[in-house]
Amino acid sequence: MKFDLVIRNGRIVSPQRTYAGDDIAVKDGKIAAIDRSGSFSDSKKTIDAAGKYILPGIIDAHVHFREPGYEYKEDFGTGSTAAACGGVTTVMDMPNNLPFCSTPAALKEKLRKIKSKAYVDYGLVVAIVGETVELIPALARAGANVFKIFMGSTVGGVPAPDDGGMLRAFERVRETGLRVGVHAENNPIMDYFTTKLKAAGRTDPLAHVEARPAVAEAEAVQRAILLARTAGCRLHICHLSSREGVVLVRAARAGGMDVSAETGPHYLLLDENYMKKVGGIMKINPPVRSRDHAEALWQGILDGTIGMIDTDHSPHSREEKFNDDIWKVSPGFVGVETTVPLMLTQVNAGRLSLNHYVKLAAENPARAFNLYPRKGAIAVGSDGDFTIVDLDREGTIDGNKLHSRNTVTPFDGWKVKGMPVYAVVRGNIVMKDGEIVGRPKGRHIKAIVRF
Ligand code: NCD
Ligand code: ZN
Repeated sequence: MKFDLVIRNGRIVSPQRTYAGDDIAVKDGKIAAIDRSGSFSDSKKTIDAAGKYILPGIIDAHVHFREPGYEYKEDFGTGSTAAACGGVTTVMDMPNNLPFCSTPAALKEKLRKIKSKAYVDYGLVVAIVGETVELIPALARAGANVFKIFMGSTVGGVPAPDDGGMLRAFERVRETGLRVGVHAENNPIMDYFTTKLKAAGRTDPLAHVEARPAVAEAEAVQRAILLARTAGCRLHICHLSSREGVVLVRAARAGGMDVSAETGPHYLLLDENYMKKVGGIMKINPPVRSRDHAEALWQGILDGTIGMIDTDHSPHSREEKFNDDIWKVSPGFVGVETTVPLMLTQVNAGRLSLNHYVKLAAENPARAFNLYPRKGAIAVGSDGDFTIVDLDREGTIDGNKLHSRNTVTPFDGWKVKGMPVYAVVRGNIVMKDGEIVGRPKGRHIKAIVRF
């Protein structure tokens, strides 16, 4: 058989093991065969991965590519370019667009707009706002991959349903077999602290951290767990940032609940003191907290409480990011292009194994969001998605060289060891050595659901 792509001589990495000696053959977008090196001679394209590691395509399940409505921050073309260049082959895109992606019509229009621009595959997260709870089955039929509730106020002002509406939403999503992700922060608690800090004349970066304390996250995590468990709905906690949050998720999982959680490189690698150095650009919701919280998040990763690394890639313009008054700075910064090198650097430092990283960044998100085993695995029949990495390659993160429309990053100047050298999406080589090769052939990937 003539294959479309054969990847030779690499070391294949799964959550369980790393092994050499096999080649991988892709045909019509799928992995057609995996066999002893040298078995496949007839292929249109070949990658020689000698000395490299072949990972299942990395998934970033929390990005804001801003289309439609905020294309001046990012659009699906620039965002997916950044993803591919960073070695990410599938993203889940967030719904705080203009209009909100919260109705079947808005979802279909978004799918139409982004269709020809994507360099990587994608799923779409759809917002549940008060009025749209009853649209949930129609949204699932229209292609929603995940539902999202913004419990705390943030960019775009997507309103949260009240607690009754949330319970109803969890009941309706349960019927679809999909999952609800929550941005878990409690508004009245944050309003209380914000008012106090503003009255005291605070405008410095750390005031943002104090305005959104761990208790605001913990209260919302606890309430979401309670309501979702009552409704029997699968729950996902977005960007977990606090020790208290980890404790709650751990307990819920120990009680048998299907609740997944993600955290991001910024919560693991930065702490609030770094904000004194880089200033308001590090502002993000929820905030990056003290070292003690970061250690608890690492602990959560190591014991499986936190199953995913996602970036919350949330670009804003320079004008929106640079302001001496922290209350006027927009929350969020880019991340999709830096996550793989940052995490591989942690692998090199011995903080986690490469196998564990593959579980966190490929298998677990694919499972949680109903894409497994189409995504998240190197196995015959799975999509031919690969992130090929050179664990010895060193580099420096340079904000000016990132591919997003806006590239303000707190990781500017950071040294990394371990970099993606190829990104392959369904057999198409889309990135080589950090730059795009090929055309935008990314597709919307439907959730695998059993009703
Ligand atoms: C996100 C954004 O800019 O859209 N910002 C952020 O601080 N995380 C919104 C969000 O995910 O809450
Ligand atoms: Zn969020």
